[in-house]
Order: sequence, then structure tokens, then C-alpha cells
Amino acid sequence: MLTQYYTPTKVLFGEDAEMHAGEQLKAAGARKVLVHYGSGSAVKSGLLDKVTSQLDKEGIPYVLLGGVKPNPRLSLVYEGIELGKKENVDWILAVGGGSVIDSAKAIGYGIYNPGDVWDFYSSKRKPAGSLPIGVILTLSATGSEMSDSSVISNEDGGLKRGYNSDLCRPAFALLNPVLTYTVSPYQTSCGTADIMMHTMERFFHAGKGLELTDNLSMSLIRTVMENGRKALDNPEDYEARANLMWASSLSHNGLMQTGNDQRGDWSCHQMEHELSGLFDVAHGAGLAAIWGSWARHVYKTDSARFALFGEGVFGFSRSGNDEADALRTIEAMEDYFRSISMPVNMKELGIDPTDEEIETLTEKATFFGKRTLGSFMTLEREDIKAIYLAAR
Ligand code: NZQ
Ligand code: ZN
Repeated sequence: MLTQYYTPTKVLFGEDAEMHAGEQLKAAGARKVLVHYGSGSAVKSGLLDKVTSQLDKEGIPYVLLGGVKPNPRLSLVYEGIELGKKENVDWILAVGGGSVIDSAKAIGYGIYNPGDVWDFYSSKRKPAGSLPIGVILTLSATGSEMSDSSVISNEDGGLKRGYNSDLCRPAFALLNPVLTYTVSPYQTSCGTADIMMHTMERFFHAGKGLELTDNLSMSLIRTVMENGRKALDNPEDYEARANLMWASSLSHNGLMQTGNDQRGDWSCHQMEHELSGLFDVAHGAGLAAIWGSWARHVYKTDSARFALFGEGVFGFSRSGNDEADALRTIEAMEDYFRSISMPVNMKELGIDPTDEEIETLTEKATFFGKRTLGSFMTLEREDIKAIYLAAR
């Protein structure tokens, strides 16, 4: 298979990275900037003031739009598009986590292209371009700071849909691990799970991984597991926060799939998006709640790959019985999730879907009968339902 590694995002990583926003925007010739942020953390920490004073200093006009919620909503995206058009902005600066960045990406599409931006997320048509986006990252998790993807929730029907295109890869990302010191333990764990899953979704594919990519992947996961724990023990551990932050970007910028001979699996992500669409749960926690049930449903397809993962990630010796090694690996991963207070089923996630809701989740995950999921093992409707039921 042909894989693409395309990372046009300029990354400034480390001390005071966020203080380079004004200079980067000036150098890029930004004429007016929409500064987009979340529900309060960037205001409370003083980060927003640091951003606006840089723009004032550089003489770059700006408008502010805060209020992005986790699982970012389409209604605020529409508001941002209207504001951005009215104010004639030509750049967007996202200050926050994945939700803020994704909302900024959607606004960027909506300002650049006529018509309804939801068309892109509902696969009706493709955008011709997007406004350029800069990022100041405050939460290590989604990798949206370098990824080609954005995920938006449409309140009408509780549909959470992603759209992938190189057009939305941020032009620059300012990564200062210190900005993540204030992230709550719960969001730190959700981020840790999400970073791990972006590499695991790619690792578990139907083909053979390139040895280098396999080894990079397993090393990234080990590093994230260790540093996720350290960040929980000491939220101001710079090394731990720095490892998580860089792993967030590398896990989802394409590096962890280059050279593989099949595309990644992504079923857990697709199934989780329906969970957070219906129940508004945190993405990383939703992934952890589903992964074990997915893994037990599919591992026999290629138990050797699970055994290899157990060897590389947990240091297990191979017993010669790949299926037994695979099951041991799945249990070890669930133990890890529990050790960082992540759920391994829906009850632990705090939801209890009815039979009817399981049907709804299944229907939505298949795009109402229009698609199967997965590449490690192709999941038909009945497989998807069985995994949701096992995870309940
Ligand atoms: O809104 P504020 O007040 O900023 O609070 C946020 C929010 O409540 C808070 N937070 C962020 N930085 C903080 C902080 N609190 C204290 N100190 C800080 N420095 O954390 C909470 C969660 O933020 P959110 O942005 O929702 O989290 P995350 O980064 O995990 O983003 C999740 C969203 O991204 C999507 C998910 O589906 C979900 O909608 N994803 C996007 C991807 C992409 N674009 O490539 C890939 C992923 O697979 C994922 O689907
Ligand atoms: Zn994710």
C-alpha cells in the first residue's frame, strides 16, 4: 500500500513556545485573526491575555470567540463562520485542546467555502481550501495540532462526524508542556489513552507492519504509559508532560503508519464517536471502555500481532501459543487503563445504554447500513453490535 507522510506543521516545542504566536502570525502576513478558545481554562490561566498582548504588540487586529465545549458543537462553528466572515478574518488561532482545534478547523473550512460546512462532515462534498490555522496546545491528547482531521458534533441527531483532509493541517503548533500542568487528572488519563489508541489503531491492521514503524509504535506506547502515570503522580513533572505532548503529535501525524502495507483499523474510534455523540462522554475514556471488547472479538484474526505487541509493550516472553499470549496482552492493557482510572467498559464509563440505544449506536456506526468498520478484521453490523454489547 502507498502511505503518505505529510507534516507541513511548523512545531516550536519547549520554553515559552506560546509567546511566539504574534511573531509567527506576523511573519505569515496575517491581516486579521479569529482567536478561538474553550470554556475557561485559557482565560483562567492568563494564556489568553498573553496571546492578545502579542497581537497588540505586532499590530495585528483580532476578534475573540470562546466557549468551545468538549465534543465541539456545530452551532458554535456556525457562529464562528458568521463572525469570521463579518470581520473578514484571514487566520485562525486555536488556543486549547483538541475540541478547540477541531472547531477552529471547521470554522476555517466554513469561512473559505460557500454553503453549509456540515456537508463536508456528512460526505456530501469536499472543500476547495481552508483558512490557515495556528495552534497553542494546552492538552496532550488528540494530535489535532498536526493531524488532517477534525471531529464535530451536530446537536441535530446527536451525530459526531470527522472529516479528514490535508487542507486543515495547522500551519504552526506552539507546544509548551508547562501549559498542560493544570490539566485535571481525569483529562490527563483520557489524553494518555487517546494518544496510545492513535498508535494502536494503526498498529493493529490486517497486513504486516514495517519493522521500524512497529518498533517506533511500541516504544511510543511504552513511553506514553510510563509518562501518563508520572504526570498523574506529579502534574508538574516537566519531563512527563513533555513526553506526552510530543507523543500526542507524533502518534497522529502519520509517522506511526508510514510503510505499513495496510491502512489502520480505526473501529474503536468510529464506535467511540457514536458513544460520545449520544452520551457526550470524554473521547479518551470512551476508547478505553471499548478497546478490550473489540480486542477480544478480533484477536484470533491475527493473534501473533497481539503477541508481538505484548512482547514489545509489556516485555512478555512469547510462550509459543499466540492466542494465549494475545489474551494475556489484552488483560495487561485493561489493567493499565484501570491503573490510570480509565474505564474498561461502559458501566465504568458511567453510562448504561438500553437495548434500544445499543441498536442506535450500531446503526449510526454503520452510517445507517452504508459501511463496515475496521481493517484488522472487517466488522459487519452484527460484529459491531456484539462489541457494544460486550462493552456494556
Ligand atoms: O474548555 P476549557 O476550559 O479549555 O477546558 C478543557 C476541557 O474541559 C480542558 N482543558 C484543556 N486544556 C486545559 C484544560 N484544563 C486545564 N488546563 C488546561 N491546560 O480539558 C477539557 C477537555 O478538552 P478537549 O479539548 O475536549 O479534550 P481533547 O483534547 O481530548 O479533545 C477531544 C476532542 O477531539 C476529538 C475528540 O473526538 C473530541 O471531540 N478528536 C480529534 C482528533 C483530531 N482532530 O485529529 C482525533 C481524535 O481521535 C479525536 O477524535
Ligand atoms: Zn482519538
